[in-house]
Amino acid sequence: MMGDKRIIVGVSGASGVGLAVELLKALGEQEGIERHLVMTRGAELTMADEDISPEKLRELADREYDINDFGASISSGTYRTMGMVVIPCSMKTVAGINSGFSDNLLLRAADVTIKEQRKLVLVVRETPLSPIHLKNMLCLSQMGVVIMPAMMSFYNSISTAEDMKRHLIGKILDQFGLEHPGFKRWGEP
Ligand SMILES: Cc1cc2nc3c(=O)[nH]c(=O)nc-3n(C[C@H](O)[C@H](O)[C@H](O)COP(=O)(O)O)c2cc1C
Repeated sequence: MMGDKRIIVGVSGASGVGLAVELLKALGEQEGIERHLVMTRGAELTMADEDISPEKLRELADREYDINDFGASISSGTYRTMGMVVIPCSMKTVAGINSGFSDNLLLRAADVTIKEQRKLVLVVRETPLSPIHLKNMLCLSQMGVVIMPAMMSFYNSISTAEDMKRHLIGKILDQFGLEHPGFKRWGEP
């Protein structure tokens, strides 16, 4: 069915834009998946700090949207998608999604994803977390949003940053029923 292969990738102004690059690459290796990209103004600042150009992300997407384009297809629930991943997800974007304050297209697309009861995964990144951050994330989790912090892993022979990134991307793809090559599952050879 149309739309069953579309995934929205939102990139906001938290550290770790390289994770978005890895996710877009991994989705590109999946059969028939369409990558729909939307980046915030904040993301452009963190990208500059991390030496990653917006063009690098654009090249990895099938479709890119302007952050202010509220007329874009992903701002409507009638445009079917598998869901959305916000990676990395800033605490400001967490707050915007939790309050339904959709003043940019990323927030609107997340709002639509929740109202249509589709999968929404937030790869949040901040430390330490304040009570405000924790409350927002708890509310979202109670609505069925998947809160997946960009957390280091130390099990299953994971030791390098590359291993940790691959593991996180594997866990994100798992949320959509997609298999990531090289993803090591506990208890499986
Ligand atoms: C270099 C840099 C790194 C940042 N890292 C984080 C972060 O890890 N987590 C976070 O919540 N905000 C972080 N911020 C602050 C956000 O970018 C800022 O709150 C911004 O308003 C987020 O807006 P957005 O979510 O619309 O992109 C960072 C800002 C800069 C410039």
